[in-house]
Amino acid sequence: MALTNRHTDGFATRLGVLTATLGSAVGLGNIWKFPYMTGDGGGAAFLIIYLLATLAVGLPVMIGEIMLGREARANAVGTWKNLAPGTPWFLVGAAGVLAAFLIMAFYTDVVGWVFSFIVRAATGQLNSTDPKVGEAAFSAMVSHPWHALFWQWGVLALVGGILLGGVSKGIEKTTKVLMPLLFLMLLAVCVRSLMLPGAAQGLAFLFAPDFSKVTVDVVLNAMGLAFFKLSIGMGTMMTYGSYFRSDADIPLTTARVMLADLVVSLLAGIAIFPAVFNYGLEPTAGPGLLFMTMPAVFSSLPLGQVFMTVFFLLTGIATIGAMLSLFEVPVALFAGSGMMSRKAAVIATALGLAAFGVPATLSFSTLADVSVFGKNFFDLYDFLSSNIILPLGGICICLYAGWVWGGARSHAALSNGGTLANAAVIRVWYALVRYVTPLLVVLVLLKGLKVF
Ligand code: PFF
Repeated sequence: MALTNRHTDGFATRLGVLTATLGSAVGLGNIWKFPYMTGDGGGAAFLIIYLLATLAVGLPVMIGEIMLGREARANAVGTWKNLAPGTPWFLVGAAGVLAAFLIMAFYTDVVGWVFSFIVRAATGQLNSTDPKVGEAAFSAMVSHPWHALFWQWGVLALVGGILLGGVSKGIEKTTKVLMPLLFLMLLAVCVRSLMLPGAAQGLAFLFAPDFSKVTVDVVLNAMGLAFFKLSIGMGTMMTYGSYFRSDADIPLTTARVMLADLVVSLLAGIAIFPAVFNYGLEPTAGPGLLFMTMPAVFSSLPLGQVFMTVFFLLTGIATIGAMLSLFEVPVALFAGSGMMSRKAAVIATALGLAAFGVPATLSFSTLADVSVFGKNFFDLYDFLSSNIILPLGGICICLYAGWVWGGARSHAALSNGGTLANAAVIRVWYALVRYVTPLLVVLVLLKGLKVF
């Protein structure tokens, strides 16, 4: 295999491999998407389906994607060019780079809302038990174009600044500090929430399954969420895989990331649902749960303003690792192809992301009446990336790893040249990635395309 575009920087420690990868997985998916999808999907029943989806779909794709990245030691496009030179496989990487732009465009918009809510919470502007106050603050913010853009561009500058430090001194160092901090803050909010009188009802909602709510849609949504949650199918994990140390245990690291990511989602559920039930609010409030319901819930508690600020702060912290990984996909491509220095690649990507983000952000103000395929830009970006590109990328990764790269090479790669005693795990992974996972992902894609 002709290796080109190889990096010189990478994750220096095994702990850094774990925190950076977990940092990518943890984010708005855990604290924003997961709770409202769990609320809609029947609580614990959704949780069980989601767990099965991560095992049957999420983990196998993640292992394959990281493996291919580490083997080729290049960016999302370069990896395919190294593995399959002269073939169209590199288009999978190109689609992934496009997905990184699309996701970052709406992601940084929501993160901008979170950061602005940190300031509002800290300065007491959200202190009211009436959900209408959070609602008014929320709609004032999203409907004001310059306000929303100010926060979005601020977020981009912050993430770009960290990436200027590089992979080991930027991404790795930052996630090593942020991940433990996130866990501590989340635990503090959970303890507070569990002390409420309505805690038992909230926990029952999260942990006592009601399978009558499970439909085919719920199952397919859970599989789709697994893609978004684990940052797979678009070259992010491929890029991070290329920074993995050669002695890192890929199956074990991915299993740990998946479990820790699930724990963060559960903790977010434990922080949110008891509080919501305690105040007789709706668990199925949708995306507004975070911005409209939570301020009212916190305002009802002693020391509520402190906990509200900590809650929005931890949400902001959770998003940073995810944004670093999304932003890194084009940076690695531009810098790795020799076109420009890393610094120039970061600046070019930041400018590109800022431009891409404008239509998504203005979807709630200036461009509110513009729709493409019946969706505003914000929803269109989410739809194209989450429902089309990620599942398509996942199918291609399974097909390549399972049918082209093959058993012998996969075994050598995942056992680190035979130094790890994980043959049985690799056999299970290989069977899944060849037969089960791609078929399940095809269903997700067909659902995304509204075929059924
Ligand atoms: N996994 C992130 C979350 O759950 O918030 C979102 C994400 C990050 C998706 C990176 C895709 C990606 F490449």
